[in-house]
Amino acid sequence: MEPGKFIVLEGIDGAGTTTQAERLAQWLRGRGLKVHLTREPSTGRVGQVIREWLAEPTLGAQVPPPALLLRDHALALLFAADRLDHLAREVEPQLAQGIHVVSDRYLLSSLAYQSLACDRDWVAEINREARPADLTTLLDLPAEQAMQRLSRRDKQPELFEKIEVQEKVRQLYLDTVRELANDQAVVVLDGSKGIEEVFQAICRTVEPILG
Ligand code: TMP
Repeated sequence: MEPGKFIVLEGIDGAGTTTQAERLAQWLRGRGLKVHLTREPSTGRVGQVIREWLAEPTLGAQVPPPALLLRDHALALLFAADRLDHLAREVEPQLAQGIHVVSDRYLLSSLAYQSLACDRDWVAEINREARPADLTTLLDLPAEQAMQRLSRRDKQPELFEKIEVQEKVRQLYLDTVRELANDQAVVVLDGSKGIEEVFQAICRTVEPILG
């Protein structure tokens, strides 16, 4: 049986990956394909620990600055552990059954976000066993616009949701795409456009890999 395709959407917070992943899964199902929609942090045990951590941005308030770096490394390890658990438990079994997997975030999220505080090569190393996706689409937009979108939500800001942080993450994403461009299928799309226009652009990038 032909394995399913592993399709990933990436972007800074407020880029619209969650909305677009849902629409993409629906679109693929509408074409009669079997699809599994998922996300990282995953719904597994490690993913749940990460979610608790992200929801408490002040958790480290008592930690002296040099030790904060240790917490950032611990979080990077949790993201990498969650990724391998997610792959083993959910992604690979679905792909093996010929089901396409659409994931809201994956490897590039760690290469961008965790490189804020940790050495980029170390982040890549701890994620070495995580296979590349068949297609990664980065929804790129200015951090200011993404933060405006987030401010309309009725939810407390999470750990990374600060404009100065998001500006750096955007740059780290673009640097990562440039580095990976020869080894992995990674496409950058203009995520500043309206939902429908971005969605159409995503469909155009996905269509060719469906065979
Ligand atoms: P979400 O907002 O898409 O639910 O993701 C939660 C946050 O976790 C978001 O700020 C991005 C961050 N994140 C990382 O820092 N590293 C990762 O590897 C992943 C998957 C997410």
